[in-house]
Amino acid sequence: MKEYQIAVLKGDGIGPEIVEEAIRVLDKAGEKFGFQMKYQYALLGGCAIDETGMPLPQETVAICKAADSTLLGAVGGPKWDTVPGDRRPEKGLLGIREALGLFANLRPAVIFPELRGASPIRPEIIGDGLDVLVVRELTGGIYFGERGRRTVNGVEAAYDTEQYTVPEIERIARVAFDMVKKRKHRVCSVDKANVLESSRLWRAVVTRVHEEEYPDVELSHMYVDNCAMQLVRNPGQFDVIVTSNIFGDILSDEASMISGSIGMLASASLGSGKAGLYEPIHGSAPDIAGTGKANPLATILSAAMMLRYSLGEAEAADAIEAAVSRVLAQARTADIWTEGMRQVSCAEMGALVCEAL
Ligand code: IPM
Ligand code: MG
Repeated sequence: MKEYQIAVLKGDGIGPEIVEEAIRVLDKAGEKFGFQMKYQYALLGGCAIDETGMPLPQETVAICKAADSTLLGAVGGPKWDTVPGDRRPEKGLLGIREALGLFANLRPAVIFPELRGASPIRPEIIGDGLDVLVVRELTGGIYFGERGRRTVNGVEAAYDTEQYTVPEIERIARVAFDMVKKRKHRVCSVDKANVLESSRLWRAVVTRVHEEEYPDVELSHMYVDNCAMQLVRNPGQFDVIVTSNIFGDILSDEASMISGSIGMLASASLGSGKAGLYEPIHGSAPDIAGTGKANPLATILSAAMMLRYSLGEAEAADAIEAAVSRVLAQARTADIWTEGMRQVSCAEMGALVCEAL
């Protein structure tokens, strides 16, 4: 039987409970499709700070590097809000993305037909549905640029730097262009080239990669402010959106909400190899941790992405996604609950997806 080594970072807040359900679903999929998972647990974020004093212990990096892939819950919480910036739980998350070289973050925003009513956008605007893939650059830009404090004209100031190199833009552009193969063949590159020099370079490089390597793909460019507006005005115009780290962070939250709940959206972070890091795009929701209210579906769908992109188990991934769809027709967690549906807890939702599988 095929065996995969999976590093598991449960993280903080609702992290442990949602990851537990994703693991149950992975095990069930393994039974059905003939593979077995071996899990290696490691610390990341606030729980790592509590245990080791650091948000990303070296041991965690080693475990993730040795694994076929990594599954992550979420990190952070009010408990660690007062720790210095370079030791915050979020720093652990950025650190693991960097340490594993995961420069491409795929964030698909889709509406499950069953959830149409949960979207805050009117049905006539959604039209045939929403199927946008945000390809977010993940190890560059302002998240990793030089930052600090200094005195300017005698007053205290702080600065962060947005910088992109040509190779960084080329490789993320290629990921986006490659992604259209099974899609609608449209890439929209989002920047702020009317103001930012880094965006002007971004636009020029994306344009060149397109001309030289992907002339068959339809490419457009859009300013980020316009994109934020277009996403709620006419989301159907988008297929693949490729953008920088910080714009991708913001636009993917927006796109996710169109789909009904941020509790539904999965993500994959990929580098140049097969291994990746898979996590829901939502945070650790400390306010509902331990109450059973968390929605495990984004994590379950992230596990499906892991099967598809890192482990070559596309059939199992399809089966999980179909199972989620079937369960949504009858049962919902609190965040997506509507009249007439059975309301279920995090654990019940996991069990129902296993059953449907
Ligand atoms: C995300 C999150 C992170 C990010 C935070 C927690 C550092 O918002 O994955 O979108 O900004 O990348
Ligand atoms: Mg974010």
